[in-house]
Amino acid sequence: MSSTSPLREPSQPSESYESVYRRSIEDPERFWLEAAAAIDWTEPPTRALDDAGAPIYRWFPGARLNTAVNCLDRHVAAGHGERTAIIYDSAVLGTVEHISYADLTDRVARFAGALVSLGVGRGDRVVIYLPMTPEAHVAMLACARIGAVHSVVFGGFAARELAARIDDAKPTVIVTSSGGIEPNRRVEYLPAVAEAVALAQHRVGAVVAKQREGFETRLEDVRASVRDGVPAGVGNEARNETGNVAEAGTRWVDWDEAVAEAEPAAPVDVAATDPLYILYTSGTTGSPKGVVRDHGGHAVALAWTMANIYDVGPGQTMFTASDVGWVVGHSYIVYAPLLVGATTVLYEGKPVGTPDAGAFWRVAAQHGVRSLFTAPTALRAIRKVDPEGDLAREHDLSALQTLFAAGERLDPETQGWIGDLLGVPIVDNWWQTETGWPIGANPVGLEALPVKTGSCTRPTPGYAVEILDGSGQPVEPGVEGNICLRLPLPPGTLTTLWGNDQRFIDSYLSAFEGYYATGDSGLVDEEGYLFVMGRTDDVINVAGHRLSTGALEQALAAHPAVAECAVIGLADPLKGQRASGYVVLKSGVEVEGAAGLEELLAELRATVRTSVGAVADFKQVAVVDALPKTRSGKILRKTMRQMADGEEYVVPSTIEDRSVLDALAPTLRTGP
Ligand code: COA
Ligand code: AMP
Repeated sequence: MSSTSPLREPSQPSESYESVYRRSIEDPERFWLEAAAAIDWTEPPTRALDDAGAPIYRWFPGARLNTAVNCLDRHVAAGHGERTAIIYDSAVLGTVEHISYADLTDRVARFAGALVSLGVGRGDRVVIYLPMTPEAHVAMLACARIGAVHSVVFGGFAARELAARIDDAKPTVIVTSSGGIEPNRRVEYLPAVAEAVALAQHRVGAVVAKQREGFETRLEDVRASVRDGVPAGVGNEARNETGNVAEAGTRWVDWDEAVAEAEPAAPVDVAATDPLYILYTSGTTGSPKGVVRDHGGHAVALAWTMANIYDVGPGQTMFTASDVGWVVGHSYIVYAPLLVGATTVLYEGKPVGTPDAGAFWRVAAQHGVRSLFTAPTALRAIRKVDPEGDLAREHDLSALQTLFAAGERLDPETQGWIGDLLGVPIVDNWWQTETGWPIGANPVGLEALPVKTGSCTRPTPGYAVEILDGSGQPVEPGVEGNICLRLPLPPGTLTTLWGNDQRFIDSYLSAFEGYYATGDSGLVDEEGYLFVMGRTDDVINVAGHRLSTGALEQALAAHPAVAECAVIGLADPLKGQRASGYVVLKSGVEVEGAAGLEELLAELRATVRTSVGAVADFKQVAVVDALPKTRSGKILRKTMRQMADGEEYVVPSTIEDRSVLDALAPTLRTGP
């Protein structure tokens, strides 16, 4: 690999935010070519933007690189092999492991070799279903090393959601492990993967599993049961039309054995525009959208954010308390810290209960964390248990410079509480799976801007943010509207939806010509500060987890007693939002007394848990006589939500039957 530049030191605040922002919007070509100097290319870019396929743009056409080499090998080659790449801190096991850059490079090369021996090549997909253990980093970076495209699925999703992603991504291999450890239970992954593999139409060549101690299902059990025709834990619904388990042909491979037999794989040179990963996210329908991220734009943008937003550089430690299954985890637990030669904390645990609400502060103090990144819901959970912050005061947090919060709106109460407690800047940053890095943030690495409570500060350089009304006209400052991003989006944002350019255009680029519609509503004030108020669609956000009410409704509707249903997101003091379901039963379905009703409701909750996953945390559901609709048959979810949340509402003039809404009102007000 040829190197075009050394690693930059972070934060050389020589230029103001205003000036950097202006340059990024007025001359994006030059701006991003300059930023590209932070990356090692085998074929350096000569131009930044390719607009030939507009409205679908490509960044750094003609350039070539390897993302894993940029995250690993180049730091070793520069003499930093002994530096810690990952601190794996497992609060659920009570262990801490330091993994150096040299060691991680070796592990990645070996696992990449194992993938190659299982037939994975450049452009092939690998689905990764792993808990917060180092195998997640190793598997993701091994894919990047050989040009394979990974798709990580969050462990809180159930087999059906995994199967849907398998059918869309069509992986050659799935990488998994025995399971994840939740505070109250062990989550067995192998039965779920076996079920998903059997449910999916797509034939998966092999499943590679890292075996962990303390789990019930061993790889041998799955192998044996597959031989008998039924993978462990698989119900009849997993059989295909011929009555056989669909995937008896899938090989089940032990991670350690595969690695022991493998030759380390050399890095494969890929085009900057090639896909690095697919990450599925919830849209308004039940079918998830496969956000595609490329190699070149991703590497350039993330390296830029580390210096200018997160203010973390070589040898410094970042602790992002999310999960590798979410975009925050992809960007700031895995790729960005390693791209710049920093140390990333891989934390297997919760903000509370593992063992207490001081867990984050213990980790931050023990590992000398400079930047801590979490979700507001985690801060609210900590505050609930430790309102005075006594547990934080037990630790030496002098290394901590900044706390970043994202995933949902940072409410002013929580912002004030945590700011007073820690005495460091609290940076709200607003972004989405689609963008991969913040659209709005206080760029403390560049220039710490004055904070306005309730605002994620100013648009990040690279993003031309405009607020448009329903007809696509810009609104006055201070007026709420659709938050839109003028095209082209900066590098590192989604390049398309997997295998479906048209869905990409229809979902994001068609509502307002020349713009990407974020699906969020908000306003920009007179001073250019951005306030994000909420979604304009049926996406909800439960404990920082993005969910589709459409997917929850689809799960409920599959219950034999349900004629129709609606799921809405209600305000929740801990989790931001919680899902609340209202179902109408099929005529002829009899529910006997209170016990019969409770049994049915328990079944409905269980249906959502087994179809979508525990993470939906679906607890509230009520049986109602009818759902309020417009004359064209659209359920008035927004009005229902406003009534339930006690907000002001206007009943649309298109309502079909006002008495239905009136009859529902008491249930909405008191909650199911
Ligand atoms: N694998 C399997 N199951 C999981 C899981 C995972 N990775 N993550 C969560 N779950 C399960 C939980 O065990 C729980 O199951 P249960 O119903 O059997 O108890 C369910 O999903 C809901 O979990 P969770 O949302 O974590 O709620 P909680 O009440 O257990 O904890 C918080 C509350 C606030 C502590 C927790 O939601 C949290 O840590 N939130 C922060 C989320 C975050 O960082 N998001 C990042 C987005 S950027
Ligand atoms: P996800 O794709 O899971 O990251 O979810 C993205 C959505 O979460 C955004 O479109 C917003 O609705 C919401 N969101 C994320 N971060 C913030 C934030 N800082 N402020 C307000 N909303 C946020």
